[in-house]
Amino acid sequence: MTKTQIWTSAFLGLFILLFFLQQLTKQEDTPKHPMINDDYPEQSMTKELSGLDLINSFGCITCHGNDLQGTPKAPTLYGLSSNYSRDKLINYLRNPNSFMDSDRFKEFKQKYRNVIMPAYNNKDVKDLGRIADYLLSLQ
Ligand code: HEC
Repeated sequence: MTKTQIWTSAFLGLFILLFFLQQLTKQEDTPKHPMINDDYPEQSMTKELSGLDLINSFGCITCHGNDLQGTPKAPTLYGLSSNYSRDKLINYLRNPNSFMDSDRFKEFKQKYRNVIMPAYNNKDVKDLGRIADYLLSLQ
């Protein structure tokens, strides 16, 4: 072999080595994200919370009770469908104050003097819609 041939094969060998190294590190750099991993279908569904999950995570139960049947702090959330449409209920959750003039709420004010129903106007309307659907199903 001439000197040129030795250098050429040395470089070629180096490139091949680098190529394989790159392939190896590529695999380590891009592990599958668990949320889009088909091996974990349950995990990838956790983004869609049900109405009840949202009620639990927004803390409604601290006032309305674990079973939502009411506590000394707040009224029951059963039977709302006789007073609320879906839209009206979403509006109420976003701005409970605008409902305070009705007799129903004057009574509530007397009964739950020291507790204020929080406004959830910082929440995604879609989430409030899911909460409303769930609440309206409680009879
Ligand atoms: C800090 C306590 C508290 C929390 C937390 C709370 N509420 Fe209330 N809620 C009240 C009180 C008190 C009333 C009664 C109205 C009033 O006095 O403002 C009420 C009234 C309501 C009403 C009207 C009931 C009716 O019969 O007209 C609905 C619906 C309601 N809450 C849903 C919710 C939902 C859904 C959540 C969570 C996203 C929630 N509340 C969180 C205290 C609370």
